Amino acid sequence: MSLTKTPAWQNLAEHANDVRQQHLKDIFAQDPQRGHRDQISAAGITANVSRQRILPQTWQYLYELAEQQQLSACIEKLFSGQPINHTENRAALHTALREQHDSGIVVDGYSVFEQVQTQLSRMSVLVDRIRAGQWRGFTGLAITDVVNMGVGGSDLGPHLAVSALQPTDSPIRVHYLSSMDGARTANLLASLSPHTTLFVFASKTFTTIDTLANAQTGLEWLMAHGASRELALKQHFIGVSTNVQKMTAFGIHPAHQLYFWDWVGGRYSLWSTIGVTIAIALGMDAFRTLLKGASDMDAHFHQTPIAENLPIRLALTTIWNRNFLGIHGKAILPYDARLNLLPAYLTQLIMESNGKSVDRAGNSISYRTCPIVWGEVGPNAQHAFYQLLHQGTEAAACDFIAPIHRPDIEQSADEATRDALRYQHQLALANLLAQSSVLMLGDAALDAPPTDPHKHYAGNQPSTTLLLEQLDAHSLGALIALYEHQTFVEAVIWNINPFDQWGVELGKQIAIKTLTALQEGQAESLDAATQALIATLNGQTL
Ligand code: F6P
Repeated sequence: MSLTKTPAWQNLAEHANDVRQQHLKDIFAQDPQRGHRDQISAAGITANVSRQRILPQTWQYLYELAEQQQLSACIEKLFSGQPINHTENRAALHTALREQHDSGIVVDGYSVFEQVQTQLSRMSVLVDRIRAGQWRGFTGLAITDVVNMGVGGSDLGPHLAVSALQPTDSPIRVHYLSSMDGARTANLLASLSPHTTLFVFASKTFTTIDTLANAQTGLEWLMAHGASRELALKQHFIGVSTNVQKMTAFGIHPAHQLYFWDWVGGRYSLWSTIGVTIAIALGMDAFRTLLKGASDMDAHFHQTPIAENLPIRLALTTIWNRNFLGIHGKAILPYDARLNLLPAYLTQLIMESNGKSVDRAGNSISYRTCPIVWGEVGPNAQHAFYQLLHQGTEAAACDFIAPIHRPDIEQSADEATRDALRYQHQLALANLLAQSSVLMLGDAALDAPPTDPHKHYAGNQPSTTLLLEQLDAHSLGALIALYEHQTFVEAVIWNINPFDQWGVELGKQIAIKTLTALQEGQAESLDAATQALIATLNGQTL
């Protein structure tokens, strides 16, 4: 039976006719307790979901939908390593990467826990050597700069973690190169010394042309500065991949190859050896704390009943907004500039996972799946796209995110600066609270409603506020795991596979064909627009 015809879906559809008529300001006026009641905490994160347009009865219907879609059984399949990524016949075992104790999962006859611990130990040896200044380049100088070359999941997670956790006393500077265009590569290399730079070639498949192109440029740069090919590869490259053969064929020294497994999805891989640059920048202890934070969220997700389960509650808000209130956008709005890369990270996690239009059996589906996700540091976004949130014609669900405490401020050298920064933290929190309140109440936030229609605020825009105790390795791990599980639950309800990404393959194939046409000026087999653009790029007149 189609999902939209099932009893739980039908109940929600009928109920939505009623809720759509209600404004959040009235919902709160009738039930002020919801502000406290609809607040849930797990693994150091508190989420207030009371500003969602969800009534107590709505929650009950949403729980019934989750049960109808056999959510509990699906969660068990996820954690126990069953091949729930069925289109690639694989498990999706990112949770096993951060297990604190062996839960006994075996894949292909091997203990997953043992394999993970072995690679973590190998990674730790490399990381400690680099951080201790014992890894030397081809002229014997110690490495000072590490450049991660990877894209998508092989870039975004490590880049987010290093940017968010801001290593201030790291002995090594870590940089990230992802884009294939080489524009940043040239600038970055110009600022580095080939004697003291180490490249991390991070690619699950080791076939991604973007990363291969950057790595090739890095290798040429080293050789142009006097390194032999052999020493450039041996002293200046670490490889991280599931593909040992390709790493070896590229020339990565076997001792500098770090492995992970095809049961780790690319966008779920920062917990694996793909996270090596996190450990280089912050140390192995911080990396293990990141894993622990995620593991604490895993335990909560795995063991907590639906009504108190944070990832499930958040996922159900997405389902309600998307499928029953017709809200197509989701904005990620951190009120802490250290989380400026969180929106980019979550766009991949959420949209590459759930941007699907066939169900698990391959049937076209008649309901909407993933919303359009975007975001920006909240205080900056206030001066950019909040206008649309407040007065545009599109509804969007917003996630406001902030740390409660800022212990980093207390490390500032003088009291005057500390006072100024404490004020700035309060200012950011006040703005977060004000914006979410205005989005909810609209004109009702004012003492007197405006008479000028240009100054009218409709309100009734739903949001969730997520508060971290503080931003550190533990809470960041928990936050990312929270979004991973939320994304998974949404996929279970929609009956889609969140772990494949076939949609990105066609573009890669056509790009290879187009590259040949561009280089050789032979574009006849391509579409007319491409032919015209290639002619212009090659300086020809049509
Ligand atoms: O093209 C999409 C994708 O496959 C992502 O899923 C992945 O994170 C990224 O490319 C990079 O892939 P790889 O790690 O194999 O280079």
